[in-house]
Amino acid sequence: MSDRLAGKHAFITGGNRGIGLSIAQRLKAEGAIVTIASRRGSEIDGMSAVQCDVADEGSIERAFADARQLHGPISLLVNNAGIAESAPLGRTTTEMWNRILATNLTGTFLCSRGVVDEMKRARYGRILNISSIAGLGGAAYIAAYCASKHGVVGLTRALAIELAEFGITTNAICPGYVETEMMAQAMVNIMEKTGATEAQAREHLAQSNPGGRIVTLDEVASTAVDLITGVENGVSVVLPGGTRVS
Ligand SMILES: NC(=O)c1ccc[n+]([C@@H]2O[C@H](COP(=O)([O-])OP(=O)(O)OC[C@H]3O[C@@H](n4cnc5c(N)ncnc54)[C@H](OP(=O)(O)O)[C@@H]3O)[C@@H](O)[C@H]2O)c1
Repeated sequence: MSDRLAGKHAFITGGNRGIGLSIAQRLKAEGAIVTIASRRGSEIDGMSAVQCDVADEGSIERAFADARQLHGPISLLVNNAGIAESAPLGRTTTEMWNRILATNLTGTFLCSRGVVDEMKRARYGRILNISSIAGLGGAAYIAAYCASKHGVVGLTRALAIELAEFGITTNAICPGYVETEMMAQAMVNIMEKTGATEAQAREHLAQSNPGGRIVTLDEVASTAVDLITGVENGVSVVLPGGTRVS
């Protein structure tokens, strides 16, 4: 526990489980007032919840208005909400492409745009985007996800340059597989398609990560706190390992 973020209002998309929830809990432990935003969320551990579909511009606007009414201007934004689906390119439907881009990339853009004026006025802000190692390198069968997460890294770099003069930093975290429901679904896909056991599927995912191991929620949350409490700008942090890519 510390008070490094005392008085700061943090808005975390997809904060009701997985990576988003672990970041929310750590920001709260650092003294932030936390609003978690997701399609199906409710209050957790004393953190307020607002209903928000990041694939819907009107829903985002309503969620920000609700959050501001509860806790005032937003100074920390974590763009974490995301979805993953896999298919070979020939079976990647336009609907699937649009769904993934709308949530992972356009949602990140819309939420960032939605808070930029209040951050500029405050001459302080932190925007943290949860991308993926798929945002820095390619992989088979996830063209839409990979394109969306590369887009998030590009958006991060652009905003870092544009907003630096206002005291706003924009960074990204690029994890390999992390122990969440999203990873559990990836394991199910592997088991169904290849007949692998659960242990084999887990090992396959671990081996595809830098360092050959699964990322813990704690590592992601610690990296988030480091980026939000620090002054680094425009970096994408790869996990495991913590390598900074500018
Ligand atoms: N787990 C991994 O291995 C891994 C690796 C690299 C990057 N990531 C990225 O990390 C982020 C979090 O992933 P996770 O593993 O924690 O996933 P998760 O356990 O599946 O949780 C996803 C979160 O996003 C929310 N969400 C999904 N679509 C949304 C929408 N349209 N509007 C608002 N909220 C939405 C979900 O809440 P509702 O369903 O209630 O809306 C949930 O809170 C994602 O961006 C993901 O791409 C994950």
